[in-house]
Amino acid sequence: MTSRSTPGTPDAPLHGFSTRAIHAGQEPDALTGAVVPPIYQVSTYKQDGVGGLRGGYEYSRSANPTRAALEECLAALEGGSRGFAFASGLAAEDTLLRAVTVPGAHAVVPDDAYGGTYRLFAKVAEPWGLANTPTDLGDLDAVRAAIRPGDTSVVWAETPTNPLLTIADVAALADIAHEAGALLVVDNTFATPYLQSPLALGADVVVHSTTKYAGGHSDVVGGALVTTTAPPAEFEDLDERIAFHQNAMGAVAGPFDAWLVLRGLKTLAVRMERHCDNAERVVELLASHPRVSAVLYPGLESHAGHEVAARQMRRFGGMVSFRLRGGVEEALAACKRAELFTLGESLGGVESLIEHPGRMTHASTAGSVLEVPDDLVRLSVGIEDAEDLVADLQHALS
Ligand SMILES: Cc1ncc(COP(=O)(O)O)c(C=O)c1O
Repeated sequence: MTSRSTPGTPDAPLHGFSTRAIHAGQEPDALTGAVVPPIYQVSTYKQDGVGGLRGGYEYSRSANPTRAALEECLAALEGGSRGFAFASGLAAEDTLLRAVTVPGAHAVVPDDAYGGTYRLFAKVAEPWGLANTPTDLGDLDAVRAAIRPGDTSVVWAETPTNPLLTIADVAALADIAHEAGALLVVDNTFATPYLQSPLALGADVVVHSTTKYAGGHSDVVGGALVTTTAPPAEFEDLDERIAFHQNAMGAVAGPFDAWLVLRGLKTLAVRMERHCDNAERVVELLASHPRVSAVLYPGLESHAGHEVAARQMRRFGGMVSFRLRGGVEEALAACKRAELFTLGESLGGVESLIEHPGRMTHASTAGSVLEVPDDLVRLSVGIEDAEDLVADLQHALS
């Protein structure tokens, strides 16, 4: 099956999402017919004479068949040119930044994003020489004003954001970035390719923490990049640059981790439907709860980004955040009282998780423009029975 084509383009295979998730990059094994790609737990490959590589494989940092299967599947799901799999989401982000920027360049970054992404920009990339301007991506004039003509090489978006669930208009940001000769990068971790297709909306690179919904079972840490089939002229060698840096920096996904993510992707569509169903039930409870002062979920008509989200997302996802009238003490108490919602970092697994971003996932943003409110609780709504989840939250808020 030709899986690299973008659905809707003239050479498209026109296979649906789940067919691509289950088959792209995953032809039955040529040797044995195994219907699942084997885990090629191997570092090096026999050469048939010097330079006589079998299938292009020489050393597993450069390429590994299990990782290649995952990369092809990711590209097919995002409708992209190439996929690249990494050891973590942050490894993917770091590799991308080095591939598309140089010291002295500038990036526009969200003023609301995963704390680790901001830490990478502020504490690693900035000392290396990449300046950044945290910006409200919902305010397109602010984005235009933040661009430094000639220097800005990246506009970085996350939508919906972690943990405030704000929405960025991908198509509008793509226009602004391209006018400035910059790339638009979209972190699609929360939405997943099932709910949102940033490349089709004009983005140039999609970033994933595959640790989350792509893997889906809280048993692997991984990251990915997928590139557009039509990069802007300034970046026409985008695929080659990333491939070079992936190998030169070496933060690749190992074969077993790649295999776990590939297995997770097969059920992404059915999991996401259930995550969305359950999140809607949870939002219904929270929206009418007297102890809750605000529910942050892009599916709510009252959400500031609802209109854009409804345009660019198929559904609104499994992440829900809310604020408590009783402030930080009540937020911490709710996290402690929840039982089915396990208190823990991360998200996107089949099991429901609850956390306090200010003290946990986003502690690194304290004192910065990205600091999150301390009365905020974040839920990763899993795929358990909705009634049980609602009952657990009722108890947690009692
Ligand atoms: C939206 C988002 N992007 C990137 C990352 C970083 O991914 P990883 O933890 O796999 O390095 C995370 C981690 O929580 C995230 O939530």
